[in-house]
Amino acid sequence: MTVGYKAIGWNRQKRIYDAVAVGGLFLYLATFVVVGLVAHPGITIETLLIRAFGTAALLLLHVVLAIGPLSRLDRRFLPLLYNRRHLGVITFVMGFAHGAFSIFQFHALGDVNPLVSVLTSNTRWDSVAQFPFQPLGLIALVILFLMAATSHDFWLANLTAPTWKRLHLAVYAAYALVVLHVALGVLQHETHPLLAATLLTGVLVVAGLHLVAALRERNADRAPAGEDDGFVDFCALDEIPEGRAAIRSVGGERVAVFRDQGRLSALSNVCQHQNGPLGEGRVVNGCAVCPWHGYEYRLRDGASPPPFTEKVPTFRVRTDGERVLVDPRPHPPGTEIEPVAVEGAAPEAPTDDFYIGYQPHAPRSIAAWLRTPIAGLFVLAVLIPAYLVTAQAQFADSVFEFGTFRQFEGRLDAAPYPVLHVEDDGGSRPHYLVEFGKRGARTELDELDGRRVRASGQLIYRDQLRMIELAEEATVALDGTTEPSVVTELGRFELTGEILDSKCYLGVMKPGRGKPHRGCAARCISGGVPPLLVVTDRAGTQRHLLITGVSGEPIGEELVHLVAEPVSVEGEVLVADGLWQLRAAATDFHRLAELGGASE
Ligand code: HEM
Ligand code: FES
Repeated sequence: MTVGYKAIGWNRQKRIYDAVAVGGLFLYLATFVVVGLVAHPGITIETLLIRAFGTAALLLLHVVLAIGPLSRLDRRFLPLLYNRRHLGVITFVMGFAHGAFSIFQFHALGDVNPLVSVLTSNTRWDSVAQFPFQPLGLIALVILFLMAATSHDFWLANLTAPTWKRLHLAVYAAYALVVLHVALGVLQHETHPLLAATLLTGVLVVAGLHLVAALRERNADRAPAGEDDGFVDFCALDEIPEGRAAIRSVGGERVAVFRDQGRLSALSNVCQHQNGPLGEGRVVNGCAVCPWHGYEYRLRDGASPPPFTEKVPTFRVRTDGERVLVDPRPHPPGTEIEPVAVEGAAPEAPTDDFYIGYQPHAPRSIAAWLRTPIAGLFVLAVLIPAYLVTAQAQFADSVFEFGTFRQFEGRLDAAPYPVLHVEDDGGSRPHYLVEFGKRGARTELDELDGRRVRASGQLIYRDQLRMIELAEEATVALDGTTEPSVVTELGRFELTGEILDSKCYLGVMKPGRGKPHRGCAARCISGGVPPLLVVTDRAGTQRHLLITGVSGEPIGEELVHLVAEPVSVEGEVLVADGLWQLRAAATDFHRLAELGGASE
């Protein structure tokens, strides 16, 4: 309870709660990473962490949302509810780690502000399959942040409980946004049915628990019949055991009528702390004790005993034979109303233990019972990440030799995109040149067009394709001459494929194509990384064509709105020094969906 806002300090139960939550979380993350490394040896650590943090945040969000209805259905879950706010903050931290890593990986080091990129790199708001899923995650993260930032009792006291509670109901909006973020994002790319089935199960469990808990409470919300003197029939006397309350909705507000030593008192059922159900608590020393966090209210006037200051409205109550009646007009919080004495013995109260969070120990029976659901959660913390990461699609056999710098020598062709024809044993092999981050090669290389040069950088490769991410130091011109390009024109073709950025596709990102990668491909291509069209020919062989304009000029920005989805194009195909090229105008590319294809 609070004096000012500082009452619910640290205690043993909170420490145990946090230790269990953090332990379970570490188990989850460790399982995800270890099984991920075994199942996908080619995965990059960034992708592994992004996925581990994202799925952990979503799983925690399910736990946070399930605790409320579970504790309404069985009070023995109440210890899980006691410190739920810490679980909410941990959920935000996981979501933040996932979002921050994603923004860095997919949007940073490009030509626009990363946050602007999240909101603008995909503008396919008109398509379900291509819908921009990342802004949904961003909005969810902002909501989770607002809730985590205002979770302290300081804000509860300053915003007032009803406003605070309304703000925190936004968790349902955040949940819906994250579900859409995953359904419209990664599930459009990852096709294993287990992944979609897991999300659906989560949604059904959360919705089902809320529905069952709401149906249970429907009884309490049934409006009782009215009486002449303003009192309304509330319940039968024998529905209120000694030391307990019955809850009903009267005049649109939930009221709890308590019985304490043969006397009845009626209080609002809504605890001033976090709207907890006061009537589900117990009477201790003449006070109603809230089951959620233990706030206390005197039965005679609804005020917390000094020095605490919370107060709830009180109601007049009377009996008529075996019936209890309540005047639905609330009295201002803290108004004293004389309790009503009742004759006869009270029905026997259930003998179950009552949990009060601020006490150092939970009752033994509840602590023992809780071990089973907590052990279940730990088992899930191993099983869920293990099968989630195993069910994810395999990654391409591509390599980015990050941190390994080599020297390369050969002829440099500056147009349409800088390519170094690296001399090796029998001849030369084309290597695309790019810079650090999401940028094409520096324009100074134009001056070295056609010269023999030496360049230093990190190698990126996939199948027969090669690329060098240039090191900071200048590329040096060498003496000697080189052969000019050999160009073979193959003619005009109509092709179907996917536009992607060569740098990520060749090995810098995993996955380096498809829906999850769309924003990053847009940034890389608008930053000057050579765009490729990946097509699969009739024999099933993949070909990678460097895309240029009709006259062989660089083309990029104009293609950004078409990346990572099936397109069709007609253009000239040629092979220049071993590099396949497609010459076409940006307007020659069409989405397959626009042509009546099967992408949507
Ligand atoms: C700034 C906000 C966010 C951004 C930019 C973002 C971005 C992404 C991206 C790019 C992916 C695909 C990653 C991949 O397949 O490798 C993804 C997936 C996912 N996101 Fe987010 N996300 C954000 C917020 C959130 C939040 C707040 C949650 C949960 C509370 C969340 C949960 C997930 C989950 C469960 C997945 C699927 C697992 C995965 O592949 O990572 N995301 N997100
Ligand atoms: S004590 Fe927290 S809601 Fe009642």
